[in-house]
Amino acid sequence: MRTFLTVITLCCATKVVLCALDEPRNARLTSWNMDLVLRWDSPGDPAVHYTAEFNSTVFKFRPGCVNTSALYCDFTDEASSLTVYGTYIGRVRAQRGQESSVWVESGPLTLDKNTTIGPPNVTLVSHGVHMTINIRDPVFRISKMREVYNQASYNITYWKEGKEGKAQSLIVQQNPVVLSDLEPLSRYCVKVHISLQHNHRAGDESRVTCEKTADRERTPWLEAVLSFVVMVMVVTVVVVAVLYRKRLSSFLCPSVSLPQHFKENVFVNKCFSF
Ligand SMILES: *[C@@H]1O[C@H](CO)[C@@H](O)[C@H](O)[C@H]1NC(C)=O
Ligand SMILES: *[C@@H]1O[C@H](CO)[C@@H](O)[C@H](O)[C@H]1NC(C)=O
Ligand SMILES: *[C@@H]1O[C@H](CO)[C@@H](O)[C@H](O)[C@H]1NC(C)=O
Ligand SMILES: *[C@@H]1O[C@H](CO)[C@@H](O)[C@H](O)[C@H]1NC(C)=O
Ligand SMILES: *[C@@H]1O[C@H](CO)[C@@H](O)[C@H](O)[C@H]1NC(C)=O
Repeated sequence: MRTFLTVITLCCATKVVLCALDEPRNARLTSWNMDLVLRWDSPGDPAVHYTAEFNSTVFKFRPGCVNTSALYCDFTDEASSLTVYGTYIGRVRAQRGQESSVWVESGPLTLDKNTTIGPPNVTLVSHGVHMTINIRDPVFRISKMREVYNQASYNITYWKEGKEGKAQSLIVQQNPVVLSDLEPLSRYCVKVHISLQHNHRAGDESRVTCEKTADRERTPWLEAVLSFVVMVMVVTVVVVAVLYRKRLSSFLCPSVSLPQHFKENVFVNKCFSF
């Protein structure tokens, strides 16, 4: 009733008929990974279109979307006008032909303070009873996560599959991270989110990723077998060489009595020169 009266008053005061349309409801700015999106609810008339604008502390309202039928407008592609420390207000009005509703404004939003940090991308590689966690930072629409939040940490939660109740958490800044001395032949699950400790903000959780550890004994056992095989081969080669050489010697130097001078010559030239 109050809105209705206000609208009537406005229309009468300005003597125009631009107020005939109901305005959109619940206009609010949202931000995820440094985007800037104005969202609103329909006034109930599906035939209307919308025009959305935004301003900041340093520039006046400028258009984002003109005559769109969507219930949101993404201002991020006007990237040159956005900064990660900027404070913005959005506004939207309904339109049909030449008719327009009044503007509806959102509350203010400051990107670096209000944006929701998305999940990091997590991959696991197991080697023996150790597990390497590789983390890729979420991709921001403007700037880079490390440039905006250089103190950002990873809150890593991991547990043996089926024992989520006994999950352990660690807060680290380095990447990759190695979990050492896990139980052999067990599946471990990991999820990670970005944590900004100074203002207690937490990003979205990554998907849960699981990976199985290998057998603790496998590597030393393999090594032992390999060195044994190598030793056997070496011994075999030596034995064969010795046998071969003996036979060769007897072939090249038959045990026939030869004259002393001849024997010396053959011995030197044929056998020991071999
Ligand atoms: C942006 O819009 C708000 C709300 O209408 C207003 O208070 C503020 O002065 C505007 N800023 C600029 C720079 O126009
Ligand atoms: C908005 O779009 C509708 C349908 O696409 C069109 O009929 C109307 O003339 C447009 N209005 C303006 C102001 O561009
Ligand atoms: C932005 O964050 C401030 C402080 O955390 C909060 O009061 C405000 O409601 C938030 N604004 C939006 C649009 O989310
Ligand atoms: C995560 O990283 C993997 C491997 O680089 C890639 O294939 C996948 O698309 C990424 N997922 C997301 C959500 O970015
Ligand atoms: C890390 O994440 C876990 C699980 O979400 C949570 O219980 C814990 O409080 C977080 N730690 C910090 C320091 O934010």
